[in-house]
Amino acid sequence: MDKKNSVFIATSLDGYIADKNGGIDWLHSIPNPNNDDMGYVKFTNVIDALVMGRTTFETVCGFDVDWPYNKPVFVLSNTLNKIPDSYKEKAFLVKGTLTEILEPIYEKGYHRLYIDGGTTIRNFLKADLIDEMVITTIPILLGGGSPLFSELPKKLKFELIKTKTFLNQVVQNHYKRKR
Ligand SMILES: NC(=O)c1ccc[n+]([C@@H]2O[C@H](COP(=O)([O-])OP(=O)(O)OC[C@H]3O[C@@H](n4cnc5c(N)ncnc54)[C@H](OP(=O)(O)O)[C@@H]3O)[C@@H](O)[C@H]2O)c1
Repeated sequence: MDKKNSVFIATSLDGYIADKNGGIDWLHSIPNPNNDDMGYVKFTNVIDALVMGRTTFETVCGFDVDWPYNKPVFVLSNTLNKIPDSYKEKAFLVKGTLTEILEPIYEKGYHRLYIDGGTTIRNFLKADLIDEMVITTIPILLGGGSPLFSELPKKLKFELIKTKTFLNQVVQNHYKRKR
């Protein structure tokens, strides 16, 4: 099966994924009475595993909900020594260069990966390892915070596959890497 690294993320109008305090409550600033998941479940149904940065892992662990993933989660960290016992069968610590990290994940048969976390996505983009991005834009200017994008060693072309509007306020663009 073809390998595919995908991003599915929400950003502010000014391109941040977390505010200046690392907060993400603004993600819910648009009333969503029917809890439209904006394609999230459909997206997660076609991935084999997640690769996320330590900060995003800890953010998710801090949510007051059950563990939200039914696929293996590979957590990137150079500072964590182990995954807390309560997440033992669900999350797995990985370290090294992106190539070193990805090889054993592919060998286990996980080919379609959901890449999550600001630093992580930026590092994957720097190495031109992102194949598709679904970016949901919330109409708010945060004025600072954790940016989705940063400088790249080279230009990366993407092709627009689909645009959807949700709740009359939120635009979701689906881009595919044009190689
Ligand atoms: N808007 C959204 O939809 C959305 C989605 C996801 C996350 N977020 C938010 O975005 C913020 C995440 O921010 P973040 O920029 O800190 O990113 P992150 O990618 O979640 O975590 C960064 C950490 O991952 C580890 N890491 C990254 N690349 C690595 C590599 N190649 N090897 C080893 N470790 C690596 C490092 O951990 P160590 O320091 O332990 O080495 C690094 O400090 C959080 O506030 C989160 O809530 C928002």
